[in-house]
Amino acid sequence: MKSFLEESKKNRKTIGFVPTMGALHKGHLFLIEQAKKKNDIVVASIFVNPTQFNNQEDLDNYPKTLDKDIELLESVFCDVLFAPTVSEIYHENIVSEKFDFDGLEHQMEGKFRPGHFDGVGTIVKTLFEIVSPKNAYFGEKDFQQLLIIKKLVAKNQLPISIKGCAIFREKDGLAMSSRNARLTTEQRNVAPFIYKILKIVKKKFQEENVVEIAEWVENQFKNHPILQLEYFTIANEKSLKSINIKEIDTKYRAFIAVFAGNIRLIDNIQLKN
Ligand code: PAF
Repeated sequence: MKSFLEESKKNRKTIGFVPTMGALHKGHLFLIEQAKKKNDIVVASIFVNPTQFNNQEDLDNYPKTLDKDIELLESVFCDVLFAPTVSEIYHENIVSEKFDFDGLEHQMEGKFRPGHFDGVGTIVKTLFEIVSPKNAYFGEKDFQQLLIIKKLVAKNQLPISIKGCAIFREKDGLAMSSRNARLTTEQRNVAPFIYKILKIVKKKFQEENVVEIAEWVENQFKNHPILQLEYFTIANEKSLKSINIKEIDTKYRAFIAVFAGNIRLIDNIQLKN
């Protein structure tokens, strides 16, 4: 991969990079399309990174659809696919480096998935070293991941521009995710409830206080037969710290993580004061 791209770089071709864990959906294809518009060569990677899973069952069940993914990548004219094996990336030592992301890693996903962002940092840094793109594209569904990757790039002074792309949703509002493929029909039918709640939160945020809104969300999930709330929080969009009181001229986002059986779904929405 390195020598292939070296040749392209010698010819002054710009490289756009879309790292993924496969089981591609329209959200990924949208990232590739964005990358195609601004770069000469677009590289996608497919690598189910073991060190970012804090739950072995989630790793074992992560959907793997390489043949279909290749067809999808071809359909959007992705130029290069990098799909290394675990041993090519980690050799014998499947462990992550430890990172300090100035506290971003301790919020939300970091609290509920210990070690997750060390795993993400390790793989993204490694992939960036191999591909050394000019631009790299990430979806806002994993908003915390997006900020952490921006921090990784800033702290390591990497000459890479990180582009965040809006959440891609199914027609019924469910945020696209590779994990959606694992939902049963019943779970899939109720999953749009998550976005419905977030849209109501967005409205409520204009007139109600944050503590009341959080209580309201918890009540909506309290007796839900299928969806279990793991966390809901309204946080500062930059620090990702949860808030109880909103201030003017500050940007906030609502974040949510919900279980449908053992499948974990996350979503978020930007709020307006
Ligand atoms: O968002 C993902 O799919 C993964 O966390 C990433 C960025 C490809 C790293 O494994």
